[in-house]
Order: sequence, then C-alpha cells, then structure tokens
Amino acid sequence: MKKYLKYDEWCIIEEGFNPANHQASESIFSIGNGKMGQRANFEEKYSGESLQGSYVAGVYYPDKTRVGWWKNGYPEYFAKVLNSPNWIGINVTIDGFELDLYKCKVDNFTRTLNMKEGFLLREFEATLENDKKISVKAKRFVSMADTENGAIRYSITPINFSGKISFTPYIDGDIENEDSNYDEKFWNILDVQAEDGSAYLESQTKKSDFRCGFAMKYIVKLNEKVVKPNAEVIQLNKWVGNQIEIEVKEGETACIEKFAGVTSSLNYATDALKSQAEELASFACHKGFDKLFEDHKQKWSEKWIHSDIKIKGDIAAQQAIRFNIFHLNQTYTGEDERLNVGPKGFTGEKYGGTTYWDTEAYCIPFFLMTSPSQVTRQLLIYRYKHLPRAIENAEKLGFKNGAALYPMVTANGEECHNEWEITFEEIHRNGAIAFAIHNYIRHTGDKKYLEEYGLEVLVGISRFWSQRVTFSEARKKYVMLGVTGPNEYENNINNNWYTNKMATWCLKYTKESIDYVKAENPERYEELKAIMNFNEEETVRWMDIVDNMHFPYNEELKVFMQQDGFMDKEQMMADDLDPAERPINQHWSWDRILRSNFIKQADTLQGMYVLEEQFTEEEIRRNFDFYEPRTVHESSLSPCVHSVLASKIGKIEKAYEMYLRTSRLDLDDYNAEVHEGLHITSMAGTWMAIVEGFGGKRAYDEKLYLNPVIPEQWEEYAFRIRFKGKDLEVRVNENEIEIISHASLPVELFVYDKPVTVEENKSITISR
Ligand code: BGC
Repeated sequence: MKKYLKYDEWCIIEEGFNPANHQASESIFSIGNGKMGQRANFEEKYSGESLQGSYVAGVYYPDKTRVGWWKNGYPEYFAKVLNSPNWIGINVTIDGFELDLYKCKVDNFTRTLNMKEGFLLREFEATLENDKKISVKAKRFVSMADTENGAIRYSITPINFSGKISFTPYIDGDIENEDSNYDEKFWNILDVQAEDGSAYLESQTKKSDFRCGFAMKYIVKLNEKVVKPNAEVIQLNKWVGNQIEIEVKEGETACIEKFAGVTSSLNYATDALKSQAEELASFACHKGFDKLFEDHKQKWSEKWIHSDIKIKGDIAAQQAIRFNIFHLNQTYTGEDERLNVGPKGFTGEKYGGTTYWDTEAYCIPFFLMTSPSQVTRQLLIYRYKHLPRAIENAEKLGFKNGAALYPMVTANGEECHNEWEITFEEIHRNGAIAFAIHNYIRHTGDKKYLEEYGLEVLVGISRFWSQRVTFSEARKKYVMLGVTGPNEYENNINNNWYTNKMATWCLKYTKESIDYVKAENPERYEELKAIMNFNEEETVRWMDIVDNMHFPYNEELKVFMQQDGFMDKEQMMADDLDPAERPINQHWSWDRILRSNFIKQADTLQGMYVLEEQFTEEEIRRNFDFYEPRTVHESSLSPCVHSVLASKIGKIEKAYEMYLRTSRLDLDDYNAEVHEGLHITSMAGTWMAIVEGFGGKRAYDEKLYLNPVIPEQWEEYAFRIRFKGKDLEVRVNENEIEIISHASLPVELFVYDKPVTVEENKSITISR
C-alpha cells in the first residue's frame, strides 16, 4: 500500500516529486473524455521510468496470441488498446539545457487532478544543471465539450536569470505498446507534415487498418501577450514539430498554448482525416484556451449534478468516491454504440482496453442511475450488434441453431482473450449480458427494447444454455460441466452454482419476454420468429431445464455450494494465511491456488447479489458468513459485492471496510499495481457499495426501493438517482432520510418497505 496523495474533497494532490511514484501517478492522474484519453505523462522530456499512454477510443490491434501449444478453439489474437501517437509533447530547454525532472533539482512540486473541472495541473520549480531556476505551471485537459480537442497551457517564469527559453511542441508517432506480444510496433505512419505554427501526423494500425489523424497548433505568449517568435520547422519520418525560442527576463512569463485535433477512421472517411483534424486544431486555437476550458468545465458540472455522491465527515471516503465517479465518466460517455468500458479505460495497457462482463455486471448499474437511459442503451446495443459474432463464436465451439456465446474479452464481437485456462470456460458472462437487459428495463421502463433488440439476444443466449447443459441420468437433473465461475481460482469445475443460477434465470426471463412481445406486438413477434428461425417448442426444453437444474447445496451447513466438489477441499480461512504470502496469486503456484478453497472474487455471493429477491435475509447471511472468510478478494470486482450484501444483512462495519478497500484501491495502491493503470470497471462497484449497499437502492418489479443505513464514520451522505426518467436526490444521516424530487411528476417508491410518494419538485423527510 502506498499513501502519498493528499486528502481533498475534489482534488487528487501529489506534493513533492518522487520518481518512484511517477508511474503510479501517471495512472491516477489520467484524463479522458470518452473519445480519447491519456496517462498523466509529462509534456517535457522525462528520462526516468514512465509508461507513455495516449489512447483513441475504439482503436485496437489484434496482437497474435502467444501460447505454448495451440489447440482448436483458441482465439487467434488478443485485442490491445493502442498506445497511439503522442500529441502532448513540448520539450523545453533553458539557455540550451534540457528540462528533465529526472535530472534536475525539483522544488515545490504539486500535481493536481481537479475532478470537479476535469483538468490536470502541474506546478514546480526546477533548477537545471546550468543553475538556472525556473518556475513552471502546466495545465491540460481533453475537452468534454469539444471531444476531438485537447489543450495544454504551459508557462515558464525564470526565477534567477534572464535568458533564452525554447519550446518544442511536437507530435510523436514512433511509439510502442509495452505489452506487445512479439515486441512489434503496431502503427505505420502515413503522413507527416510540419509548418510554421502547426503540424500533422497520420498513422495507421497494422492489420486492423484504423487510421488516426493528429493535428496541432500553438500560440506563444510573453506576459500574456501573443508573440510570434520564428519557428524552426522539424519534420522527421515519424515525428513532427516546431522549435521556437524566446528571450525572457527574470520574473517574466513565457507561455505556450498547444491545441490538438484528433480524428479517427471510426468517425471520418480516411481522406478527410487530415482536413478535419487540422480544422479541429485551428478551431480550438481560435476559440482559445480559456473559452475551450469554460465549455469543458460546464460539461463536467452537468455530469456532477447527476453523478456526485457527497459524504460528510469522512474525507478519505469522499475523495475516493469522486475519484471513482470521475474516472467512470471520463471513460464512457455513451455517445457511440461501438465503444465500451475497458477494465483499464484510458489509463494503461493491461486488459487491452477491451470489453469484459465487467460492463454489464458492474458498469451498467452505475450508468443506469447516473446518466440518461440512452447511455446504458448504447451499451446494450453494443452487444446486440455483436450478436452475429456471438453466434459464430458458439458455432466454432460446436453449438448450433443460433446459440450465442458472447466473448469473455472482445474488441469487435470476436473472442480475443489470451488466457485459455481461465477465461475460456467463463461462460457466465452470457448470464450478465442477459441480466443487463432486464436491469435496463426495470430501471427505465423501456420494454419496447425487448421487441426492438433485446429478445434476439436473449433467445441466442438461451439457446446456448439449453445446448450447454447435460442431463445427468445419475442425478436425474440437468448439470453444467466444465465451467469456470467468476471465481477464477477454480477452473473446469462442474455445476458452478452461480452459472447454473444465471442460466436458469435467463431461460425463464427469455420465455417471459417472448410471451410479452407476443402479446404486445404480435406482428413484430412473427417477424422476430422468422429472423431467429425460432420455434416455440424450444421453450419446452428451456422450462424443463429451469425446473430440473441441479444446484449444489450443503444440507448440513444450509449453504449453496460454489460447485460440486467445493467441500472436498481443505477448508481454510483467508485470515489464517500468512500475510507475507498475500496476494496468493503473486506467491503461490497456480496448481496450489486451484486446489485451495480460496476464492478470488464473489461467486456464489455474486449470484445472491444479482438475484437477491429470490433469497431470504437469513439465507444471504448464512452464505455470506460461509464465503466471506474464504474470499481473498484478489479481483478488484470482489469487495464491492460483499459490501452491498454486508449492508443488506446489517454488517455495516464490514460493509464499510469493504467499501473503503475498493474505493481507495487505486489511490492507496492496495495491490501494488496501479502503475499499470486504474481499475475502471471496479470503480462502478464502489458506487454500487454506496447506493445499493448503504443506500439500499433496489428496483424489484420495476419499483424503486430504498433501505438506507449509514456507517458510523459518516455524518451524512447524499446521492442522486434516475428511475424511469425521474430524478431524485437522497440524503441520509443518522436520524433521517430526505428525498428531494427533481422530477416534474410525482415519484412513488418504497422506503423501508413502506410506500411513499414524493410530489414533483418537493421533498419528504422520513425518520430512521
Ligand atoms: C476478473 C474478471 C474480470 C477481469 C477484468 C479479472 O481479474 O477475475 O472477473 O472480468 O479481471 O476486469
């Protein structure tokens, strides 16, 4: 654990420069806007350890899979989010000496991520090898309003001299991915052009043929007045820039404002990439840094109105939840149905920036409540558009008749994971994808979605489950063999309770959805039947599976068993592990982990979380008490689910402990891995731990429920939720709950299971 950041309600602040923390900070201070994003790399040259990261959403590279012994069914490639050409660079020299924080004396260094307004700020004093001392201030953002623009204002004031400052703003296309499987570079450079005051670079991904255009423009100011120093135009094969030099007196300030325009072939015809990128950069330069920033700030303030959570009396928790919300909002904005939420977002390479079940299981609950319904709908459409590929994926594995197996990892609908042993059999992702449709409908009331898109996905998934189960003559039950549940510390097991549960839930829900569409829109139903080549007879087997599925259960303990053989394992408790051996995935052999009963992440409890209304509180408590001590939470997706359930069964202390652990996972670097990037998808789990955990928000039968509790560390907390187009603010303290309506119609809900109505734009207060 690393604790070097200052607590603050709205900012993440690093004081003092320590190169050992630099890569962690590069992740933590990342900025993005849904369309592009970047790690908090320095603008000027830095020769210390650094992970360069600049990403354009939706641009990936199919890096050939690396395995020892190839087997049928292995994915051909692992899709990587690409480190793309770097447009932030501004090299600096002072009287001929290069500014490089790794090599000079640095004082009064502060790096700030202002989450309220969405910008990155760096201030410091540096004494160079020539003893010249300067004060530097660099502010940078990628615009939420003008989403293809980014801007930097970089100012230098000489402290103990008058002399020459040179700025070299540039675009660098000679970049690489650290996680490249074969040490290849993934980009070709198609065009470079530098002129006085501007430059352009166009790059193309090998194999996947994405093209991106990067244009820059800049202006230089001396004491806030625009000046026009001569520029040396530099154009290399993969690098374009300008070098300018300016005479600055002691105490004066020289400033460069650099504007970028970024286009990609996802959004433009390839022959328009250049003109559009140049136009974007000129537009930003013309608009000016301040106005560009004002509009960006305004967008952030609109986002915060709906997604902020306020916590009084606990600054660590307050800072952490805003950090999580900030990163989620800058990773995904819901404007483009081809995009999704990668587990590392725009903050690092690992996990390829591709789509996992994390989106449906974790991110959708967040976006559903904090964004207009369109945002979640886009995430559902993403999967709808991938349905033909999911059917192909299933066909490759021997399934037929339109059975769909969605990939565990994907960039374009094709399976592209690179860990066969673990990921291949995690078919539970199909369950999360189906459940997300239900979750969307119960929160938005948009049942039309079923006939438009949802039913096709549900039928494809149900056909898969129906073919994937086996009827066991010995048990006279359906069984599901050879799977991996969410707990990746057991592979190729039989009858994972969670997977079996989600499968039957899904079959039942699909049947109900079929009946619904048939009754509501018979014409469309007939059309869909033809599209899907669907025969109602299929549902007879589905219902038989629902009625006769085997669910492992231990009669003595009265606990659902994670899988058939779970109790054959030596039963050990996580607390008894030697702390020096944790996390076990960094100390134990894989074989030892698989044989142990230690659970990486919520599995049976994940099922109880998702389908909570099927279980009594007593059942949840029993299962929680059994599984929590055996869970090592070595996935960031785990503690939040345990936290929600702990709140539900009144273990508030435990819920708080789990909440804090997820919410500060990256800020305090619990797993010593934040330098690789942030855990973006688990950040949504943090939000769940407050709103669904402490706030007790549920949406059963399309009705809204709140059952708030409050951890004793907090004086008060408040969150805002959307439900069926209505917007509510909820404030909870020890004594009361206030519900404030921002809706133009009355809102009906249940608080502690009693019906209440909040009139339009009014509030009600209920004693706790
Ligand atoms: C977890 C998976 C998750 C993946 C990406 C793994 O460590 O076990 O459930 O989908 O990370 O976040």
